[in-house]
Amino acid sequence: MRLAVPKETRAGETRVAASPESVKKFKALGLDVVVQAGAGAGARISDADYTAAGAVIAPDAAGTLKDADIVLKVRGAESSEISQMKKGAVLAALLSPHAEKDAIAALASQGVIAFAMELLPRISRAQAMDVLSSQANLAGYKAVIDAAAQFGRAMPMMMTAAGTIAPARVLVMGVGVAGLQAIATAKRLGAIVSATDVRPATKEQVESLGGTFVAVMDEEFKNAQTAGGYAKEMSAEYQAKQAALTAETIKKQDIVITTALIPGRKAPILVSEEMIKSMKPGSVIVDLAAGAGGNTPLSKPDEVVEVHGVTIMGYTNLPGRLSTDASSLYARNLFNFVSLIVDKKSGALAIDWNDEIIKGAAVAGAPVQGG
Ligand code: NAI
Repeated sequence: MRLAVPKETRAGETRVAASPESVKKFKALGLDVVVQAGAGAGARISDADYTAAGAVIAPDAAGTLKDADIVLKVRGAESSEISQMKKGAVLAALLSPHAEKDAIAALASQGVIAFAMELLPRISRAQAMDVLSSQANLAGYKAVIDAAAQFGRAMPMMMTAAGTIAPARVLVMGVGVAGLQAIATAKRLGAIVSATDVRPATKEQVESLGGTFVAVMDEEFKNAQTAGGYAKEMSAEYQAKQAALTAETIKKQDIVITTALIPGRKAPILVSEEMIKSMKPGSVIVDLAAGAGGNTPLSKPDEVVEVHGVTIMGYTNLPGRLSTDASSLYARNLFNFVSLIVDKKSGALAIDWNDEIIKGAAVAGAPVQGG
């Protein structure tokens, strides 16, 4: 069986779906691996590194995809790639199934079995394949590092002969995987950290990292978590109470990292223009939700803007700013996923359509129910 790793085509995508380490493991599983020339360049992995791990280098996308049984990508496939994939081939990638419905339809009509890695159920057995977690963790870290680099003051308290520098105050809004890493990173840099979320389970997590939890803790808050562990969309009444509390808190902050997302929906606005105006000049906001509509109305996807003296960073691909680590973790996630669909003895595809991981992630090519 042939596993293919094309070069990413989206502007600014620096990651790659396989690492030399994952190539070696695929070879050990009995697969032939083809990597497109230059596929690892953005993550500082050379063609020679892939060759040394046992891959064959193909000069272009067509040569890479030809006869491939399994195709691994970071982002969704373009129509020019889809048309070159054979019927019955498997594609695993971040397919943005809510936003990119046409591409999913094209994959289905091409007969490709497509798995959207962001739809894997968040169960313990899937943790080693959980690309959202591996990438969000790096995004949370990088958000704080980017903010610290932009901020014109130091993060920790410093007592020097020339006087004392006050520590920076960091507020993290949304305490999922990215938010927890942002809290930990800001603490390590010496900042005073507070954090907010609508899911009650996060209170203890924030406190265990040494942060202060700030939230409207009413009846709705007690029920804000879905069975899947995600946040629910909150009522207008709750959002108004939350906004009043945020308005009070945000004035005192130097850095705000927003990460609030609701799967498949536009991100909630948590920081209004009025709140931004109330912040001290030189403050920094990093909006990890900028690609999903933004947690502030002034965030611009992939831009760094200064408004009312506050810098707002709207990078939509923060893991891509740590491309080597992001690729290596993503590649391990995909290896673990592929191990699930390849029979270890025969090396052939063996997809268990009753497995909830498979059912959860499949967006095209699943057998018709009962068939
Ligand atoms: P996410 O990226 O969907 O959202 C980020 C955070 O924003 C969440 O904590 C969410 O509660 C929060 N949020 C949404 N609306 C908000 C609002 N109006 N105000 C404030 N905060 C708001 O979340 P992520 O990082 O994907 O994690 C979701 C959950 O899944 C977490 O509980 C996480 O611990 C859990 N998880 C479980 C795994 C497992 O295998 N058991 C693996 C990874 C995550």
